[in-house]
Amino acid sequence: MNAPNPEMHADILPPDTTDTTAMATQTTLLNPRFYTTDFDEMDRIDVTPVRAEWDKLIGQMKSDPNKGHFKKNEDWDKIDWDGMDPALKVEFIDFLVSSCTAEFSGCVLYKEMKRRGNNPDICELFNFMARDEARHAGFINDALREAGIAVNLGFLTKAKKYTYFRPKFIYYATYLSEKIGYARYITIFRHLEANPDHRFHPIFKWFKEWCNDEFSHGEAFALLMRTDPKLTSGINLYWIKFFLTAVYSTMWVRDHARPEFHKALGVDIGWYDQEVFRKTSTIARQSFPIELDIDHPRWIPGLERMNRAFVAMDAAKHQGGIGGKLKGWVAATQALVAFVGLYTIPVKRHTLPVNVRLEPSY
Ligand SMILES: [Fe+2]
Ligand SMILES: [Fe+2]
Repeated sequence: MNAPNPEMHADILPPDTTDTTAMATQTTLLNPRFYTTDFDEMDRIDVTPVRAEWDKLIGQMKSDPNKGHFKKNEDWDKIDWDGMDPALKVEFIDFLVSSCTAEFSGCVLYKEMKRRGNNPDICELFNFMARDEARHAGFINDALREAGIAVNLGFLTKAKKYTYFRPKFIYYATYLSEKIGYARYITIFRHLEANPDHRFHPIFKWFKEWCNDEFSHGEAFALLMRTDPKLTSGINLYWIKFFLTAVYSTMWVRDHARPEFHKALGVDIGWYDQEVFRKTSTIARQSFPIELDIDHPRWIPGLERMNRAFVAMDAAKHQGGIGGKLKGWVAATQALVAFVGLYTIPVKRHTLPVNVRLEPSY
């Protein structure tokens, strides 16, 4: 973990970790989760079929190109947190807390794999990835501290509920979240490069090198999936489609809950999400022989239906009582119907490339 630099924080209030840690501890359908898996099964992976590409990727991770990147320097402009529009501040803090939780959830899973494993290839990989995610989470926490708040990561490790996923589901979910993380960070970075007046916080300047870490983590999972062709064929294609639909629609709902944040960035949420889906889908052709049809006439209406259902579920929860419960059930059913509608859109198919490896190109 990157310890915060004490000199940098001499002028700020002691971090209040109670509220933000409570935010990060919540387990809902939309919040980033903590995962656990069958570590022994993962330890049995044999990377021999992808050895040459594996060694190259591990060599790249070992060289640690971002070793000095996650430190504040003269590019870190001073932020007037007190002068920030209150609605934007709430959403931006929510964005930072949920990003920090997601980064840290990766760190916890990867570290656990490294700790429990005996397979030297697997342990080496997970050690490098845990190192990167700890830096990412620590850097976001550092940014939060300037606003007088932080997520208590040690507490989170103990208090957060862990969701068990079989190793193959960890591959699909984690591969996707690494690649979508890359696509999200690079899309914001390129947008702000062209529109610097919308860069309302310096952390966005760090996104380019940052997303290269996520890209190579995704590459590692792409190689792991290549060791066993069964993972990306047959009945598993239905699981892959399930994860793609779940990850994309969750992102849509979560982003639409932050209108002020995206307005400040000068980004239309629908455009941004479609752009991220497009980049992720293009990259994922390296591993998945199917792709969601995000230009299908039912795609956007389905996502919008899903969003309305989640907004209604949230309102029902706030209302409480029997009336709230009933409305909550109705909304949950509507969300399920919306999900089924999205899931039944026919996929696009293609054959997998012989060479799985990619380089970040956006
Ligand atoms: Fe990360
Ligand atoms: Fe990552």
